[in-house]
Amino acid sequence: VKRVRKRHFQSARENGVPIVGLTSYDALSAAIFDEAGIDFLLVGDSAGQVVLGYDSTVPVTVEELIPLTRAVANAARRAFVIADMPFGSYELGPDQALQTAFRFMKETGAQAVKLEGGVRSAEQIRRIVSAGIPVMAHIGFTPQSEHQIGGHVVQGRGENADAVLADAKAVEDAGAFAVVLEMMPSDVAKRVTESVSIPTISVGAGPHTNGQLMVWTDFAGLQGGRYARFVKKYADLRTLLGDAVRTFRADVESGAYPAPEHEYE
Ligand code: KIV
Ligand code: NA
Repeated sequence: VKRVRKRHFQSARENGVPIVGLTSYDALSAAIFDEAGIDFLLVGDSAGQVVLGYDSTVPVTVEELIPLTRAVANAARRAFVIADMPFGSYELGPDQALQTAFRFMKETGAQAVKLEGGVRSAEQIRRIVSAGIPVMAHIGFTPQSEHQIGGHVVQGRGENADAVLADAKAVEDAGAFAVVLEMMPSDVAKRVTESVSIPTISVGAGPHTNGQLMVWTDFAGLQGGRYARFVKKYADLRTLLGDAVRTFRADVESGAYPAPEHEYE
């Protein structure tokens, strides 16, 4: 299999071929998505909620993400693997950002890193890229600053669209190879996509971008509770697994499991 490389993102944009990504946090899901032809796997700090049981991405550390990122990189044969830099691991400045990026590159096998912020993170992006590490930027709603933003709020509405456009320009100028646009009106994402030349990847930013990304446990219906408007459940794994557990219990109670074919002589 031919590995997806950084240049694939730019040529996909230029050829009008959508780029499709999912998050992953473990070897098994990574192998399944890789074999099914996903272009990139983001080992997101959404692992905070999905894997680690936190209620936000704020507490997530580099130490927690490194083994998860390594597991995904070990399993991926074709997909481009991107390591998400957690809150507190790059904001102090370009030196801290590059140190963190080095750790992910040297200790995990990821091919790129991602960090949040536009104008405010441009110097960090520039420094990491100049050291030879591809950076995916992330603007619009940035979950690591949810306490500053005041919750999960759609960004770029009305006159705030200009700030989103300035963020997009800043990350492009700093050398990001692609930019995630999270939770913004579709027409703003369209303007961003038209105003930059790097690929834009939508997470709740509508159809007028160069690609789409979803948190895999949302995409597969594994999570409980309320889903964001932009999520489409492509499977209902939560119901499937819940039913399987209930059947297992019932089988053990009735003696249907284990049956003779499950026993050793
Ligand atoms: O951590 C994550 O899953 C992300 C994507 C939703 C963009 O950053
Ligand atoms: Na993230």
